[in-house]
Amino acid sequence: MTAQIISGNEVAKSIRAEIKAEVAKLKQSGIEPGLVVIIVGEDPASQVYVRKKGEACNELGICSETLRLPATTTEDELLKVIDQYNENSKFDGILVQLPLPKHISEEKVLIRIDPSKDVDGFHPINVGKLVVGAESYKPCTPHGVQELLMRSGNDPAGKHVVVLGRSNIVGKPVACILVQKAKGADATVTICHSRTKNLSEITRQADILIAAIGSPNFVKADMVKDGVVVIDVGVNRINDPAAKGGCRLVGDVDFEAVKEKAKAITPVPGGVGPMTITMLMKNTVHAAKIHHKYKE
Ligand SMILES: NC(=O)c1ccc[n+]([C@@H]2O[C@H](COP(=O)([O-])OP(=O)(O)OC[C@H]3O[C@@H](n4cnc5c(N)ncnc54)[C@H](OP(=O)(O)O)[C@@H]3O)[C@@H](O)[C@H]2O)c1
Repeated sequence: MTAQIISGNEVAKSIRAEIKAEVAKLKQSGIEPGLVVIIVGEDPASQVYVRKKGEACNELGICSETLRLPATTTEDELLKVIDQYNENSKFDGILVQLPLPKHISEEKVLIRIDPSKDVDGFHPINVGKLVVGAESYKPCTPHGVQELLMRSGNDPAGKHVVVLGRSNIVGKPVACILVQKAKGADATVTICHSRTKNLSEITRQADILIAAIGSPNFVKADMVKDGVVVIDVGVNRINDPAAKGGCRLVGDVDFEAVKEKAKAITPVPGGVGPMTITMLMKNTVHAAKIHHKYKE
């Protein structure tokens, strides 16, 4: 079987073109969506993510600001900054880049963001809305997974989706999105984690397998059935003397082996990765529409 390679780069490109057109239309009505990204400390990976978010905003015509705070910033100081942006109508979305330095409680910070500006979808109010199927900001990576499935012609409706991983940012929300009684969902969902027994027996039942565990090449060919659709969320850096810089990125799925059995599969890099920031842009535009009570 020759697997369909689901290109996140291509899907993200077409969604970005839609967002760009939407932003241009909003601007004609005097609405300029705005996103502030707050980063505390010098974590190199976070610096890269924050830069990419700013670049995506520029590309799509979204007003953006990056606030860089020193690692010594106290929790109280950060909370006060969030209060200021909650009140600032120039910004529809507020994103606090995680992880935060150890002395700051992520929970306290995320809960302080105005839920209507929580474009990451991590505020408990938005998580609750997601669970009950109400209109909310879907977390970016899980939403990106749903878009990849739909836009590649792999509607999860009626399918058995097996999710590997139960984190609050990927595993649980993606399961929650796909189990809803809604377009792009209606799946039968099983969530697996490190305490799951007979894992391979369960993964072999998957029509759609979503891997989000952070373990390089963990899913082998004998863990999937013929014709499976695989979405690989994992991003793992492994040593490879032949690669530029001595290392390269791989997913949680043994891509070369599993693609021989799969109907469709995402690569790493170039699969889920490009979708995450794109869905952040989509949420920011959605937030601007809510704040300005914009009707299509
Ligand atoms: N492409 C993107 O934009 C994007 C975004 C976010 C994350 N990621 C990547 O996605 C991966 C997962 O991220 P995360 O934040 O969800 O990770 P996480 O918070 O570390 O959670 C990992 C989950 O996988 C489970 N797990 C670990 N080893 C397992 C095993 N051998 N068998 C079954 N389950 C296992 C853990 O189970 P327990 O709960 O029992 O510990 C946990 O629920 C990482 O590689 C991360 O870099 C990519």
